[in-house]
Amino acid sequence: MDPEQLRQYLSFYQDLGFTSLYRRERKEAAPQELEEQAAMPILPVVPPLAPEGETLEQIRADIGDCRRCRLHEARHSIVFGSGNEQAKVVFVGEGPGADEDAQGLPFVGRAGQLLTQMIEGTAKREGIPLLRRDVYICNVVKCRPPENRTPEPDEMEICGQFLFRQLVAIHPKAICALGATAARALLGRKEGVTRLRGNWYKWRDIPLMVTYHPSYLLRPYNQDAKREAWEDLKKVLHFVYD
Ligand code: URA
Repeated sequence: MDPEQLRQYLSFYQDLGFTSLYRRERKEAAPQELEEQAAMPILPVVPPLAPEGETLEQIRADIGDCRRCRLHEARHSIVFGSGNEQAKVVFVGEGPGADEDAQGLPFVGRAGQLLTQMIEGTAKREGIPLLRRDVYICNVVKCRPPENRTPEPDEMEICGQFLFRQLVAIHPKAICALGATAARALLGRKEGVTRLRGNWYKWRDIPLMVTYHPSYLLRPYNQDAKREAWEDLKKVLHFVYD
């Protein structure tokens, strides 16, 4: 296990409330075995990062009435995600806004209406029979940041573990990261969307496209960005459904 994997394990279990880990004692061994053991590092005994084969329902249950970060203080709902558990494509936004916090569902406000139009409109024009309910939509953080501010790195790290588990459970054919926060959480890249959009990257083994966040596209002077976002979405849909 490399140091980065170990760091991920430790922060995952810390989020779950574990404060101690124990190392397994080395057992009595013959001299030659002792030499072999001495050459091996002692690793902490930890269960796998996420239980294999877990369902979205189990992940939601694990989140519970989450208080792992400060975002729980002002939230009304935990906005876990919505759509098809076996979706071929997952859209990942930043975090719930006021409408989402009130309804407990992602992308139901103005940005959500635009996202729905983008998905269903592009699919229809491209001859792909696809409705919003066929895809899965979720966010990097599950609780609304106060005043819709950008989530802080520690909030993204804590809640990001659940996003990762959602993606592992669904295992879509492609992921579409909406905006810079989703791109940062999934790719660890800090560049702006203008730079990242339109190209394929990978989250683990899953192809990932970055495009503009629908809230950005709602601003009236972003006509070029709108056209580009539609192009990006076309690429995603053809990749997944052709
Ligand atoms: N913006 C997001 O990033 N996510 C939502 O769910 C709504 C608005």
